[in-house]
Amino acid sequence: MTVRPIRITGDPVLHNRAQPVSDFGPALNPLIGDMVDTMRAAPGVGLAAPQIGVGLQVFVWEWEDQDGVLHEGTVINPSLHKSALSRGRLDDEADAEGCLSIPDLRFATRRASSVTLRGYAPSGDSLEITAEGWLARIFQHEWDHLQGILYSDRLSLRRRRQAKSEIAAHDWGTPGLSWLPGVDHYEGSGEDAEETQPRGNNAS
Ligand code: NI
Repeated sequence: MTVRPIRITGDPVLHNRAQPVSDFGPALNPLIGDMVDTMRAAPGVGLAAPQIGVGLQVFVWEWEDQDGVLHEGTVINPSLHKSALSRGRLDDEADAEGCLSIPDLRFATRRASSVTLRGYAPSGDSLEITAEGWLARIFQHEWDHLQGILYSDRLSLRRRRQAKSEIAAHDWGTPGLSWLPGVDHYEGSGEDAEETQPRGNNAS
């Protein structure tokens, strides 16, 4: 499979709703394989099809929790049921979210603390997963991607302004921009292993 360029904010495919998948089966395997390879190369903990320029309702995730349990999977045509949004002050570190389509930036983002994800596995079997904590955050982030929403759209007014000016400072926010993991040095990609964070990168 192939590591594909990751689209950067400003590209229309990231800001429009993805289309439902109608043809299940082996035809989807190359897309899913490329998404997993691209997510691992970035490295990230999740990736949605629009991030590699494909406007279909598919996302993948792969994240190891604090107990060393690996959570991984693929969902097609998902729906997401969310609990109420978390309350109280956001923590600039613990709530810091990142997106491979806005590489290297991090902003505290308010999310629901638990969600139920429903959809289909690549086999066509139905799938239902209830998640809390960071996995719930990943599901909300990826599901948003399929609606054409980036986490920067969900920030508080103050943080949204900061994000906007950082995005402008990088000359992002226009169509046609992308970066290639392993070639472009974003998100720790291509750096020596000892330079990356021990718990890995948590952007998606
Ligand atoms: Ni993202």
